[in-house]
Amino acid sequence: MGYLVRDEEGVEKWRMCVDCRDWRKAETVMKQSKITEEFMSKTFKGFQHETRPQIVQDAYQAAYEYAKEFPNIRNNRFNSLALLGDPGCGKTHLCMAVANHLMRKGVPVIYFPWVEGFNEMKNNLADLETRIGLMQRIDVLYIDDMWKGRKTPTDFQIEQTFAVVNYRYMNKKPILVSSEFDVDAMCKFDMAIGSRIFEMAREFCVVVHGDAKQVNYRL
Ligand SMILES: Nc1ncnc2c1ncn2[C@@H]1O[C@H](COP(=O)(O)OP(=O)(O)OP(=O)(O)O)[C@@H](O)[C@H]1O
Ligand SMILES: [Mg+2]
Repeated sequence: MGYLVRDEEGVEKWRMCVDCRDWRKAETVMKQSKITEEFMSKTFKGFQHETRPQIVQDAYQAAYEYAKEFPNIRNNRFNSLALLGDPGCGKTHLCMAVANHLMRKGVPVIYFPWVEGFNEMKNNLADLETRIGLMQRIDVLYIDDMWKGRKTPTDFQIEQTFAVVNYRYMNKKPILVSSEFDVDAMCKFDMAIGSRIFEMAREFCVVVHGDAKQVNYRL
């Protein structure tokens, strides 16, 4: 918790242990994030990049630079990250590496996996407002696999996503996005949402397309 120190006049004073305080804060932040233990193991260190195709290296670089620059850009217009494109190229791994890095620094992050997140929301409509409010106000929101699951998103998905993205856009709050859809496809689903995200992620946006055998790490 802390320790007692004696000042020049010999009076004992309580000092918080700063390292422990920061560690406790990080621990709380990680518990709130909804990030599973498996995902907590995804780090920059665990990501092979030198041997991967150039476009994957570019994605690594964008994510790494983003994490490093975060304290300087977090309140800017261009404070978000979008990693898009082919399956298995490491989009989720890299966004998780960013999220884990930020949480270790005490920055609160919420993980919203598109398909599971909306299923959970629909099954608990009583606390919809609370959930949306949290997604609007949290320091960093990570939306994984955006627009996944159906040919066209439901009106419910569009309405809730717009409420979250627009709030974050207006208040310059960072978003991390990974999706197999590129910029055009994302905007086709909904221009208002897509264009806001891409303006925010303008400085840190990589679209990975390539030969599946090369870019898909799973293969
Ligand atoms: N360069 C890499 N080094 C180490 N592990 C990697 C690398 N690229 C991907 N992986 C691992 O391969 C698996 C697939 O990566 P990931 O889930 O990040 O892909 P994705 O682009 O999000 O795919 P999808 O579009 O299917 O969601 C994960 O277990 C991830 O940790
Ligand atoms: Mg993924």
